[in-house]
Amino acid sequence: MTAPHPPADPLAAPAATADRLGLRHAPATARNRASIAEALAHLLPDRPCSVLEVASGTGEHALWIARALPRVTWTPTEAGDEGLAAIAGWRDLCPDLHGRVRPPERLDAARPPWPGPQVDAVFAANLTHISPWQATLGLIAGAAQRLAPGGLLLIYGPFNENGRFTGPGNAAFDADLRARDPAWGLRDREALDAAAAPAFTPEAVRLMPADNRLLVYRRV
Ligand SMILES: C[S@@+](CC[C@H](N)C(=O)[O-])C[C@H]1O[C@@H](n2cnc3c(N)ncnc32)[C@H](O)[C@@H]1O
Repeated sequence: MTAPHPPADPLAAPAATADRLGLRHAPATARNRASIAEALAHLLPDRPCSVLEVASGTGEHALWIARALPRVTWTPTEAGDEGLAAIAGWRDLCPDLHGRVRPPERLDAARPPWPGPQVDAVFAANLTHISPWQATLGLIAGAAQRLAPGGLLLIYGPFNENGRFTGPGNAAFDADLRARDPAWGLRDREALDAAAAPAFTPEAVRLMPADNRLLVYRRV
C-alpha cells in the first residue's frame, strides 16, 4: 500500500496556491518574509510572546513568520471585509498554525484605541506609505496603548532618511504612490521618531533588502 501524499505546503509557492484557489496574493511577501522573520527572531523576547499585526493584507506574513518562530502567537488584523476574508482564506489552508495564528480581527489603524489584551509587540508592514499620515499616527497611539513598558513597535517598509530617498527605486515608488493618492507617499523616518516620542524610544534601525527598513521603537 502506498503512503498518502503529504498535503502540499500552501506557503511554499504562494503565487501558485493563490492561482489554484483564487486567493488574493501579495507577491512582495514571498520576497521579504524571510528577512523580516530573521529580524523578528532577534528582536522579539526569547520566550513565548504575542504579536499584534496591523494591516496584515493577505495574512501571508502572519502565517509564514509564525511558522518560522514557534514561540510567537500572532493576531492578524485588517480594516475591511475584503482583507479579513483574504486572511481567513490563507489561514484556513494552514490548520497546523491555528493555535498560534489567531483568526483575523477588524482593526482600523487610524482609529485608536484598539480594545484588546496587552501584547509583546505590534508589527506593521507596508502601511505607512500606503495610507494617510493619520494611519501612522493612529498606529503609534494604538500601539502605545496595547504595549506594556519594554514592548516593541516594529514598522517595516521604505522610509526616507535625512530628507532623502534611500534609493532610486524608492523615488519612483513615491511618485507612483502620490499619483495614485496625494495622501500617500514615503514617510520620513525622523517624522516617525518625533511622533513616537515620548511614548517610545527609537532603537537601531534595521536595514532590510530592497531599500527597506525595519523601524524599532521600545515602549517607555
Ligand atoms: C500595501 S498593503 C500591505 C499589506 C501587508 N502588510 C503586506 O506587507 O503585504 C497595505 C495594507 O494596509 C491596509 N490599510 C490601509 N489603511 C488602513 C487602516 N487605516 N487600518 C488598517 N489597515 C489599513 C490596507 O487594507 C492594505 O491591506
